[in-house]
Amino acid sequence: KQAKMIVDKDFQVGEVDPRIYGSFIEHLGRAVYGGIYEPDHPQADEQGFRTDVLELVKGLDVPIVRYPGGNFVSGYNWEDGVGPIAERKKRLELAWRTVEPNLFGLNEFMDWCRKANTQAMMAVNLGTRGPDQARELVEYANHPSGSYWSDLRIAHGYKEAHGIKTWCLGNEMDGPWQIGSKTAAEYGRIACETAKVMKWVDPTIELVACGSSGLNMTTFPEWEATVLEHTYDHVEYISLHTYYGNKTNDAGNFLAQSMGMDKFIHTVISTADYIQAKKRGKKKIHLSFDEWNVWYHSHEADRKMEPWLVAPPQLEDVYNHEDALVVGCMLIALLKRADRVKMACMAQLVNVIAPIMTANGSAAWKQTIYYPYMHASIFGRGTVLVPLIKSPKYDAKDYTDVPYLEAVAVHNEALSEVTVFAVNRHLTAALPLELDLRSFGACRVIEHIVLEHDDLKAANTMSDPDQVKPHTGGNAEVTDSGQVQAALAKASWNVIRLK
Ligand code: AHR
Repeated sequence: KQAKMIVDKDFQVGEVDPRIYGSFIEHLGRAVYGGIYEPDHPQADEQGFRTDVLELVKGLDVPIVRYPGGNFVSGYNWEDGVGPIAERKKRLELAWRTVEPNLFGLNEFMDWCRKANTQAMMAVNLGTRGPDQARELVEYANHPSGSYWSDLRIAHGYKEAHGIKTWCLGNEMDGPWQIGSKTAAEYGRIACETAKVMKWVDPTIELVACGSSGLNMTTFPEWEATVLEHTYDHVEYISLHTYYGNKTNDAGNFLAQSMGMDKFIHTVISTADYIQAKKRGKKKIHLSFDEWNVWYHSHEADRKMEPWLVAPPQLEDVYNHEDALVVGCMLIALLKRADRVKMACMAQLVNVIAPIMTANGSAAWKQTIYYPYMHASIFGRGTVLVPLIKSPKYDAKDYTDVPYLEAVAVHNEALSEVTVFAVNRHLTAALPLELDLRSFGACRVIEHIVLEHDDLKAANTMSDPDQVKPHTGGNAEVTDSGQVQAALAKASWNVIRLK
């Protein structure tokens, strides 16, 4: 059986906002300490940033990085992370039950962002704190000078304001695990009041309200409706978070999980539009999918983790080939709604459920999921085209009619290139694909990149970092009739680049 995909340059979903290729650094495990920052590492620069990690981050071309949490932010006093390092306080960190040494904070993060060619997406604490500390943080970070907090930043050695544009109003406030979690109405009110004062300090910023922590939260989607009732006039985005896992070792079902992401996105858009209609508003609320990934491998080890350590190895999922395929499907899900999903953050970036792993004092390497993320970020810029797909299907435990072909195409007009991202979910057979590019005229295949492996559980480790890596030997070709044909290898991620 074969799959068919039609794309036409005039049938457009929307422009890709590059910020959908964002990521996330939380003060959690070894993301900061031992990840991006390790002063004693042989490859650390003068500020203690690991340059080997910076190179791997730059390879992903990450446009925005969310910081400092995550659950961490709901108990964080941002002032603990600024000023002379010798005077900074060590704190018990209740979200992950560790000790936070505060050797790295806002200013170090902003310096690191500059070196990584990225922007910050800053989260404020709406768990234990509220509008007052949030407006002070905006004043410290963004106000030029002449006020207490902006002058303090200057005294700390940062004459120029950081100009942080994007801010998250708390994190996962619907979750009982969250420090200071709230009902939708409680959160909606505090988010509204916080948004007002933050924007009064700096009217150029844009704000993300917390949506649900997952599609399966019992308060979803009423949470979104209530929160937006309170915040519609003051925010630009609503957040979504989702993680998938394969605990039952059912690969077919695991690969189908991205269909839940489609549904989640669709429902949040509908809810946001309902509130817009109710408010008689002109503004469309966009989506920030600011936590997404596969996360389950490390759950057991984390349950046994001793508390109150500094930067222990938490959430260190070692990703395998099937995880990379799910990540590919998730990237496609984000692209398919490029009209409304304007930001997204793979959670996270280094060591903690991350595409990049490090050993303290030693090497840094690419996990399997690094590759689809890198391909999408590098080649997935331009306009997303409506993917008209006919594919054979299968039934899985959680979803029926799962198409073997998951795919989307991005047209980069500036380079006159079209890139098709495609996953073959079939675990045992290649999937013949016929690609009809109608309005594009004569095309040639620049390259067909494939990520495939006979063993779905194959992973990259420090001693074997290249177990799973892409090759450019895919068989996509243009036929005499001008159609593009390929046989997508079983269980594979494909990037077909055409010009
Ligand atoms: O990314 C790991 C954690 O997942 C984040 O801290 C939290 O927001 C989510 O539950």
